[in-house]
Amino acid sequence: MSWFYRHLVRPVLFTQDAETVHNRTMAGLNRVSRNELFCDAMQSFFGSPNLPVELFGLRFPNPVGLAAGMDKHAAALPAWAAMGFGFSELGGVTWHSQPGNPAPRIFRALADHAIVNRMGFNNPGAAALAERLAEWRASGRWPDHPVGMNLGKSKVTPLDQAADDYANSFRVLRQHLDFFVVNVSSPNTPNLRQLQDKAALDEILAAIQEINTAAPAPADGHETPKPVLVKVAPDLSFEALDEILELAGPRRIAGIVATNTTITRPDAGDPDSQRVYAETGGLSGRPLRGRSTEVVRHLYRQSQGKLPIIGVGGIFNAADAWEKITAGASLVQLYTGLVYEGPGVVKAIVSGLVEKMEAAGLRSLREAVGSACNLKMSR
Ligand SMILES: Cc1cc2nc3c(=O)[nH]c(=O)nc-3n(C[C@H](O)[C@H](O)[C@H](O)COP(=O)(O)O)c2cc1C
Repeated sequence: MSWFYRHLVRPVLFTQDAETVHNRTMAGLNRVSRNELFCDAMQSFFGSPNLPVELFGLRFPNPVGLAAGMDKHAAALPAWAAMGFGFSELGGVTWHSQPGNPAPRIFRALADHAIVNRMGFNNPGAAALAERLAEWRASGRWPDHPVGMNLGKSKVTPLDQAADDYANSFRVLRQHLDFFVVNVSSPNTPNLRQLQDKAALDEILAAIQEINTAAPAPADGHETPKPVLVKVAPDLSFEALDEILELAGPRRIAGIVATNTTITRPDAGDPDSQRVYAETGGLSGRPLRGRSTEVVRHLYRQSQGKLPIIGVGGIFNAADAWEKITAGASLVQLYTGLVYEGPGVVKAIVSGLVEKMEAAGLRSLREAVGSACNLKMSR
């Protein structure tokens, strides 16, 4: 399938504007999602082998997830499971609905297998998404894997009111999802990344955890506290990352998602890539891989392997995923790899991980996590 996609499908798709292709793909996946037969067909073609992981009290059928930004409208929830993903992260969503930045705002650097985007959290708002999620539940088509939500800050909300903005989104979405990711690392909302500063992040997490641990209203149905993770930028210094880690205990951070896109640019030989790199926005894909793995490795070592990490950035195949896992990631995610390699990439990665584990004589993925870090500790 990957050959078919790379040589026949992708060349046609890549003649069109990136956001147009994205919107058409999402409309198609929405149709698949609403039809059980289509979903079953997709599952039989793309479904991944089992490679279960238990984390944050959740059971993941495999460790390869959909990264934030692909499905901001929760349009294709059942399709992600049918495509073989072991979990999906929806959003980023903000409290207020917003259109995002003017188009064009997604650019492909084909030669480097990279994307630059400056979407700016285009999304329908947290309340509309909560309704969407309730509809999926009611339809009986909720996927059989953990679903999380990426929370961003509304552009109209001043930085000093950010905590309320995040907390409002969390309040309306809490009952619908399995885990949450506080995104303070997108480069496309002015000054958002300042919220990675320890004091600002502390305030946001305090506001969210107050709701998270409050006694549930009887109508709420469930409620043990939901795992709340923090997503970091690859451009943070190790010292700044360490400051975030200091909040893990006091604010009950369940894990770190490392990393978001980067504002740095690699040297590009190819003139088309040079043009793309001149665009403002965050860079994802192959050039991000090394730095995001470095961040994963640092976080793993610094936390003595005790804080779960979701590794994301430049994963295109099983070797890339294995690099993140052995550097310390318990789960991985991809976005750009899906765009360049097509839907078969998920199954290919999970199958490749199964083979790597067999070759290494490992019985569970947990044994591989951080194995390249030489931590002297009992896990
Ligand atoms: C078009 C686009 C939109 C994105 N939107 C979000 C978002 O809303 N929230 C977020 O945390 N990350 C967002 N990301 C970042 C991805 O989730 C991921 O962290 C990053 O792209 C690195 O992974 P990759 O190399 O597999 O793409 C977006 C990425 C792209 C390409």
